Order: sequence, then structure tokens, then C-alpha cells
Amino acid sequence: MQSLTLKSPAKLNLFLKVLNKRPDGYHNLETIFERIDLCDVVGFRSNRSGRIRIACDHPEVPLGPKNLVYKAFQLLQKEFGIREGVDIKIAKRIPVAAGLAGGSSNAATTLLGLNQIWGLGLPRQKLVELGARLGSDVPFFLYDASWALGTGRGDQIKPLDIRAKLWHIIVVPRRKMYSREVFTALNLELTKNKHDVNILLRSLRKGSLEKAARLLFNDLETSILGICPKLLTVKKRLQACDVPGVAFSGSGPAVYGLVTSQEKARHLQKNLNRFYKQVFTAATL
Ligand code: C5P
Repeated sequence: MQSLTLKSPAKLNLFLKVLNKRPDGYHNLETIFERIDLCDVVGFRSNRSGRIRIACDHPEVPLGPKNLVYKAFQLLQKEFGIREGVDIKIAKRIPVAAGLAGGSSNAATTLLGLNQIWGLGLPRQKLVELGARLGSDVPFFLYDASWALGTGRGDQIKPLDIRAKLWHIIVVPRRKMYSREVFTALNLELTKNKHDVNILLRSLRKGSLEKAARLLFNDLETSILGICPKLLTVKKRLQACDVPGVAFSGSGPAVYGLVTSQEKARHLQKNLNRFYKQVFTAATL
């Protein structure tokens, strides 16, 4: 029996601009992905049943066909006529439906893990093509990159040569939010702004972190706050802690601050723990 254990990291979006709505209903984006060291751990063990059995320590994670891990398994099995099954154990640390792409990351990790334990030898480009069928955020996690520019649905990935290592404080409110809900609430008339991804990229490349912090941007913020106005309090509370840059990540309610050291992040975590149950510190991975 082949077995394997892999880390499945979360992401933050430091910049997310919505360009337009596409005929297929999705939106074209320009986004900067950052891989962070807040990780789930996914264990794989091949079995002869031909089926997938998922176990997870988080009660809200579906164990059946709704789980992207399940879908990744089905896709590979069907595409390559695989008869083997697999037991998958997910140790969940990444909050669900928060904008941190935990489910997409688990799906990418499943493609990578099954490619390995089943000895499929699929090249990255093929995995990326399969990943894009599972979800817009999946391809990013198939690259071994800390930073990437995402275009198209967010599925066209260009790894970036950025050496910056950032620290973050992440507050995850109880309110869950799904991408569809947030994109549906989006008023494209309000997204015609002049924010330029290249200015932020330049700051990140130069390591000008205070400047980068001021350039964080997310076009989906208005929709997120439209759906749940209370989340503005979370953002304001972080801003009041003298954090140089605060933003929402992707299409979720998680609010993060960019800070310059681990000490600062830990100190803030202690303070914010008085108000929120789920507060994390995380660094670029
Ligand atoms: O690709 P994914 O399955 O994660 O997308 C979930 C939903 O989010 C889509 O059905 C769509 O409504 C919305 N979405 C979008 N534009 C994107 C990504 C997602 O409209 N670039």
C-alpha cells in the first residue's frame, strides 16, 4: 500500500482587481497570490476498494461528493481509468469558506498526492488543466511558488520572483461566505478604479513592505461588506492596532493585516484574541 503525507497551504490575495464579467458567468481578475504557512495536512493511503474514503477532524467539512478532494479523485480516476481507491485523512487548520482557499488547496494537494502514489507521472501543465476544472483557485497551489500573478478566472498563473517574507495577522469572523455569493453581489460599475498591480509588485520586489502594505487592494470588499456590514468593525479594529495595511482576502470574510515582524504579529494576536476566536499569525511560505 502506498502512503504519503503532504502539507496543504492557504493563500492570501494582496491585490484583487475585477476586470469584467465573462460570457461564461465568471469574472476576469488580476490578482496577486501569496502562499502562507497556515496549512492543513493531508494523508493519502491507496486502497483496493476503488473508492475514496475521506476522514476529517473538522465537523463542517463534507466527506462526500461535495468535497473538492472527492471531485479531484473522481476526475483523475475517470480521466485515466484508475481502479485503485484511496483513504484520505485531512487535518484541518485552515478555516472553511473564509477566503483562504483551504478547499481548493486540498484539491490541488490531492491531485499532487494521487499523481505520486498512483505513479501517474503527470506534468504540471496537465495537473493545472485538471485543477482549473475543479475551481479557479486550484491551479495556484499546483505551482511551487510563494508568489504568483493570477489572471483569467484567477486560474492563469505566472509565478513571481519575489523574495519578500511577510508576516500577517489574520482574523476569521464566524460568518462564512462563498465566492458565488460575493461575485453575485458585485456591482461592476463600482470597480472602475485606477489601482495598478505593478506598483504593488515593485514594492514587494524591492522589499518596501510598509509601502506594499499601503497598496493592498481588493475590489470584492464592497460586496463582502454589502453582504455583512458588521465585518467593517473587524477591519477597523485591525487598522486601529497600527497595522500598516489591512485587507480582505479573495472573496471571503477573513481580514488580514500585513506586519513587519513575527513579534508584532504575535503581540497583535494576543490583543485580538480578546475579541475573536479565530486569530492566526502566518508568514509567506
Ligand atoms: O471557480 P470556483 O468554483 O471557485 O468559483 C465559484 C463561483 O465564484 C463561480 O461559480 C462564480 O460564481 C464565482 N467566480 C467568478 N469569477 C471568478 C471566480 C469565481 O464569478 N474569477
